[in-house]
Formats: sequence, C-alpha cells, structure tokens
Amino acid sequence: MSIAYYNGQFCDYSDIKISLTDRCVFFGDGIYDAAIGKCGRIYLEDEHLDRFISNAKRLNIPLIHSKTKISELIHETIDKNRFEQYFIYFQLSRYSEERTHSFEDSNDSNLLITVREHTLPAPNKKLKLTKADDIRYKMCDIKTLNLLPAVMASKRAELGGYDETVFVRDGIVTECAHSNVAIIKNEALYTHPTNNLILPGITRARMLFTCKSLGIPYKEIPFSYAELINADSILITSTTKLAVIADSVNGINVGNTNNSQARALISALRDDFFRS
Ligand code: PDD
Repeated sequence: MSIAYYNGQFCDYSDIKISLTDRCVFFGDGIYDAAIGKCGRIYLEDEHLDRFISNAKRLNIPLIHSKTKISELIHETIDKNRFEQYFIYFQLSRYSEERTHSFEDSNDSNLLITVREHTLPAPNKKLKLTKADDIRYKMCDIKTLNLLPAVMASKRAELGGYDETVFVRDGIVTECAHSNVAIIKNEALYTHPTNNLILPGITRARMLFTCKSLGIPYKEIPFSYAELINADSILITSTTKLAVIADSVNGINVGNTNNSQARALISALRDDFFRS
C-alpha cells in the first residue's frame, strides 16, 4: 500500500475519499501531470511543474499553492513511500458545491498526489503498435483528465496483444494513446509539431534537446502514416518509458532498417535520468 496526499492530508492510497464537490467526478474537470524519479529526486521536475501550473492557468483552475509548495508536497509524498524508483502522479481538479456545467468563481481546488514503484523498461525493449483513428478532441495539448479515447484505445491494444496505439488524424500521425512518437528517416528525426493535436511531452522535448547534443538533425513537422511505416526507425517517448523503439504496427514489421541513432538517443536519455 502506498501513501497518498489529498487536500492537506496524507493517508493510505485506498483510504482516499473524493468528494462529489470535486468536479473531476462529474466532469473530469481537472488537469494532471506525471513524472518519474529515484532516490528522492524527480526527473525534469521543473518542466513537469511548469506544465502542470500552465495547464491549471489555461483552464482557470485555482492554484491554492505556489510551485514551491506543490514541489514540497510531492517530495513529502515521495519520502513517505520510500520506493527507490517511482512514478509520481499529481492532479488538480476544480471544486464546486453543485453539479452545474458552468463553474462558480471560487478560490478552491483539490490537489491529489500519488506515488507508486516504477522501473523503466529494458533499453532493448521493442514496442508493438496498433493503429487507430485519432478521434480525440482538439485540446490534446492540455493534460486534462478527459482521457476516454486513450483509455478505450489502450484496452483494445491490450486485448490485441499490442503495447501502444498510434493515432492517425486525416492521414497524419499525431501521437500515441499515452506517448509521443517520432520517426527517423535518412538519419534525421521527425516528430509532430507541438500544437493542439498533441501533448507537448516533456520526454519529447528532452529527446529533441538530446538530438542537438548528439548532432542528430530533427524537424518538428507532420508526417503521414505511410511515412511511419516506411521509417528507418520509430521511437516512442513518454515519462514512464523515456524512449523505446517500436518494431511493428498491426503485426507488420516496420522501422527496423537502421536503429543506431534511435539506440543512441535511448541510451543518452537513460544516462540523463540515472545521472540526474
Ligand atoms: N502520458 N502524449 C500523451 C497523450 C500522453 O498521455 C503522454 C504521457 C505523452 C508523453 O508525455 P511526457 O513525455 O510528458 O510523459 C504524450 C503519461 C505518462 C500518463 O498519462 O500517465
């Protein structure tokens, strides 16, 4: 059992009681972020906290605590759990007395923090992808709690024996159900630009930064599904995995032409995490 934090109190995860005045219950009216860490530290902490705060501001969800205080509460939750490597989830949701679609102007919100044990996948792990239409709305850049298309896609993937779903909107690969996707073709990396159709992944940004230090040219431009399946290599990035190669889509082998740059990026990101 792990220790979690909710609105000023620490308790066992399973003892948390969410009130009906928490609008995450009726509307998924909230935002979240997720990070990993080890030995009391949070990898790319500033980036995760900044995204969390900027998402709260974009949706006018009142922030009761400063960035420093949120960081302190997250670290306190980590310390209470004593895992060596962990996954941290933090969520801020709007408060209101009544279930009404529009929300009252209030200074209140609900902060939840959970921590669980986490280990990264093996560096040589290969993901099996499946493809689905990107039926999500056009606010994918905000990390809100409204994740039903990703939830359903993830279940379908699991039932089919796949690890992740790659979303395609109008022939263009956007991202995956819970990761970003990049391809490498002719020694350059391509990934969808950050706009309202994808989440601006913290790991994606770190990967692009790492491209610079490794001298790998990259372009943030849309690419098609045809380009994905003809790529020399496919890289999937997210907080929980860092970067992992995908080697098939719907059971067809793809992206196995030249994985040397992908492997260099994977190992640089892992070094970055373990050094941090
Ligand atoms: N998911 N795109 C989507 C739709 C995501 O849900 C995620 C992360 C990413 C990768 O973003 P980042 O590198 O910041 O983790 C991209 C997390 C891990 C989750 O929902 O648990």
